[in-house]
Amino acid sequence: MSASVKPVRLDMDRLIDDRRTRIIVCCGSGGVGKTTAAAAIGLRAAERGRQACVLTVDPARRLAQSMGLTSLDNTPRLVEGVQAENGGSLHAMMLDMKRTFDEIVEAHADPDRAAQILANPFYQSLSSSFAGTQEYMAMEKLGQLRHAEEWDLIVVDTPPSRSALDFLDAPQRLGRFLDGRLIRMLTGPAKAGMSYMRVLNAGFAMMTSVLTKILGAQVLKDAQTFITALDTMFGGFRERAEATYRLLQAPGTAFLVVAAPESDALREASYFVERLDAERMPLAGLILNRVHTSPASRLSAARSLAAAETLETQNGPNGKGATGPRYYIAAAALRMHAERMHLGKRERRLAEHFTSAHPAIPVVEVDAQPEDVHDLDGLRIIGTILSRQGS
Ligand SMILES: Nc1ncnc2c1ncn2[C@@H]1O[C@H](COP(=O)(O)OP(=O)(O)O)[C@@H](O)[C@H]1O
Ligand SMILES: [Mg+2]
Repeated sequence: MSASVKPVRLDMDRLIDDRRTRIIVCCGSGGVGKTTAAAAIGLRAAERGRQACVLTVDPARRLAQSMGLTSLDNTPRLVEGVQAENGGSLHAMMLDMKRTFDEIVEAHADPDRAAQILANPFYQSLSSSFAGTQEYMAMEKLGQLRHAEEWDLIVVDTPPSRSALDFLDAPQRLGRFLDGRLIRMLTGPAKAGMSYMRVLNAGFAMMTSVLTKILGAQVLKDAQTFITALDTMFGGFRERAEATYRLLQAPGTAFLVVAAPESDALREASYFVERLDAERMPLAGLILNRVHTSPASRLSAARSLAAAETLETQNGPNGKGATGPRYYIAAAALRMHAERMHLGKRERRLAEHFTSAHPAIPVVEVDAQPEDVHDLDGLRIIGTILSRQGS
């Protein structure tokens, strides 16, 4: 296909050293390394002198522990073990979606009403299971942290959604939900003036009986109570979502799309890049994570396989030939090397495909580490790799 296009290199240190950068958002599909990248960037920024705060969503247990994230209390905590010679600091918090939702209710309703809403089963299921709630809450929390002015750089990890686009779609989806027909119907009678009530009542009574059959009386009552109470906060939700959306478009924000060198993840990354562009959101670049390279890349896959075959034939069946079982192990290692070279080649092709479709997007590659990244040392290594390619 196309001749290989060399990607522009992403200069991570320039991005994190630039004081105008106030928010970095790590997006991407599930399992590609968003949480790892966000934590590694936060740590590096802190060690280079910034007052950084990482908002993580689903850190693996060991990583969370190593950052001191043992409780889900929605407050950023100072991370111990950060090198502070440059005057920086790192705070981290784990997003508790339900807690954030509760806090909004508490902040926007009087105590009695808040208690009523929080205890409402409909609210409880909405706040923990509504599709997109977590994305919405991540944005909500980001708005709060940014507003607090305690940090000069906030690094945001995004929820483990199937699609990276969910993050951008969440506020609208919540808005659509609140504006939806069912919600209108439920809130309609409560909002309508008395003179309309009589007219509406007949129709509503019929609808109610249908809904009662479908949902059950208690659920319907719960839903009505909750929605009526929520109504007072309705505008608030919308306004804040819009404010956060504008914050994401502001020049101080940088999106980093994280992808593994696999076709699904890169296709998703492409969609995301196009969406950001369409919505005029500032994209800083692509992190290509878990790239497989080989320390012995001069030995080609073909030669390596040929050598394995030679060893195996010389050795005869069952490894009992004159050359002994040691050669079997050598042959297996050669085959593994060949596989890794093939994988590396496939990954390179996929990366080139992305670059030829989006030639202006800066890219940084992070190689696959021999084991999971689960502590500050591991994060520091990722941070160094992320920055080594800066031009
Ligand atoms: N470059 C890497 N090399 C090896 N393991 C990695 C690398 N990046 C991430 N991981 C591991 O992959 C797993 C998924 O990463 P994570 O950051 O949680 O992904 P996401 O947040 O996108 O779901 C974690 O166990 C993490 O330690
Ligand atoms: Mg994650």
